Amino acid sequence: MPVPAEDDIFRSSMRLLAGGVTIVASAYQGNRSGLTATAVCSLALAPPRVLASINIQGDTYSLISRSRCMSVNLLSLEHERLARRFSTSRAMLSEDRFSAGEWCQRVTGAPVLADALAALDCRVIEMIPLDSHAILIGAVEDISFGPKRPPLIHFQSHYTSVLDAVAEKLG
Ligand SMILES: Cc1cc2nc3c(=O)[nH]c(=O)nc-3n(C[C@H](O)[C@H](O)[C@H](O)COP(=O)(O)O)c2cc1C
Repeated sequence: MPVPAEDDIFRSSMRLLAGGVTIVASAYQGNRSGLTATAVCSLALAPPRVLASINIQGDTYSLISRSRCMSVNLLSLEHERLARRFSTSRAMLSEDRFSAGEWCQRVTGAPVLADALAALDCRVIEMIPLDSHAILIGAVEDISFGPKRPPLIHFQSHYTSVLDAVAEKLG
């Protein structure tokens, strides 16, 4: 039966969308910023494009709008603490988030997580604001790969693995 798409009902439905966890990061004039994001996907293959939906009130959006570059770092299960770190409130300064993890630069200058499952270094070619968020479209300029590990998944409001997400739903 159809239900009205009220806030909490919408949230409940989106919690069922299991998502790979990423950190979207950028740098501009010596400042770095990054955030944990699941609203990320592949947009096109040729040429390679990715899409990220980012809150326009946040520090990371503000930095990306100036730098016009971003990295999309695909996290493994071992990155859960890093994911928590990059989604904390503003009590932690943007730069402090980068004191954990090994970060380097590749092509655009955006911070790239050395041991990400894969890290896509992008020029941001479109920023489309809509209400609280903006859709950022990245042209992928460089891809690097870290060790092969199981991906970090976000499901039902917590971090989990693919196997545990299946067990939780079926169990
Ligand atoms: C699992 C998870 C997924 C998230 N996905 C997104 C996302 O796709 N886009 C977004 O703007 N914020 C997302 N957030 C919220 C940001 O990580 C959080 O608000 C962060 O502190 C914002 O940092 P900023 O001020 O540097 O932008 C997510 C948080 C969590 C825990």
